[in-house]
Amino acid sequence: MKILGIESSCDETGLAIYDSERGLLAHALHSQVKLHAEYGGVVPELASRDHVRYLLPLAEQVLKEAGLERRDLDAIAYTAGPGLIGALMVGASTGRAMALALGIPAVAVHHMEGHLLAPMLEDPAPEFPFVALLVSGGHTLLAEVRAVGEYKILGESLDDAAGEAFDKTAKLLGLGYPGGPLLAKLAEQGESGVYTFPRPMIDRPGLKFSFSGLKTFTRNTWQDAVKTGDESEQTKANIARAFEEAVVDTLMIKSRRALRQTGIKTLVIAGGVGANLRLRQGLQAMVDKERAQLFYPRIDFCTDNGAMIAYAGCLRMLAGQHEPLIINTRARWPIDELDSLT
Ligand code: KG4
Ligand code: ZN
Repeated sequence: MKILGIESSCDETGLAIYDSERGLLAHALHSQVKLHAEYGGVVPELASRDHVRYLLPLAEQVLKEAGLERRDLDAIAYTAGPGLIGALMVGASTGRAMALALGIPAVAVHHMEGHLLAPMLEDPAPEFPFVALLVSGGHTLLAEVRAVGEYKILGESLDDAAGEAFDKTAKLLGLGYPGGPLLAKLAEQGESGVYTFPRPMIDRPGLKFSFSGLKTFTRNTWQDAVKTGDESEQTKANIARAFEEAVVDTLMIKSRRALRQTGIKTLVIAGGVGANLRLRQGLQAMVDKERAQLFYPRIDFCTDNGAMIAYAGCLRMLAGQHEPLIINTRARWPIDELDSLT
């Protein structure tokens, strides 16, 4: 089955073609970073309009790259949520319309399921069951994954998502948008141990996260530094480093707890913050000690992309998922409401 995947839930237009026999045939991405940079964050209406601009040209591009004609496609998968409702509607209505015109089925994909299954596009791919640490701009959660669609949430963030905490902290340090990668880059110049930030919620049992206090701690530390005239780039870098280490440590401690609690020996990281190298290194060291295994997608498939949507859609199509001919998108959509494929 050859399936075209469309991702348009936020500020990236991602298109890809996945073939159930040959694997990923092509993928293309248009990032809206430049468009939103001057506003310091994503402007939903601008995002929707930009998806309109890029979606069809990128669809043609991936078809060409895969050496396929439109009529060779067997199905279309699109992100139906969670995300920005206008942005979702662009991908959903275009995907549905293309499917109708081509006389093929379309399947609605949950964005977070896409992220969660993205490591399975790699070789070697993780096998079920696994614990997934899903860390993106909108979500932070640990889930026990027994099969496609069987997601038991072990713990979520009570407030900011990890990516959101990175973005907000970057903003208050005067870095640009998107904050996560910029903060990570600055942290490279920082010296470890100059500042020590709290590790939120690690003393309490359970697997819930909270990152908003850490953001406030960073703000206070930076303001204190400014007050004492110590607002050098090095101080900023040291603060970025302390923040990043606190987030990584917290995610590492909770992931270890999840592995021990479930008795599962496979950990998967997914979502944009999964691109963070210190997080990957920290988790790798932890799983080595636990005699477990770590899997993650390539950097490009940690952040939003069409490949993960094509792949998740393909699995659902092959399992015979059918949908009525209506376009339904959801800004909010708990992942544990999905149907299991088994
Ligand atoms: O998964 P994603 O592309 O979009 C959502 O579904 O939210 O995640 C985007 C998030 C942003 O908050 C971004 O700052 C963060 O992932 N991010 C990073 C890094 N690369 C992206 N955070 C920390 N370090 C990175 N290298
Ligand atoms: Zn995402």
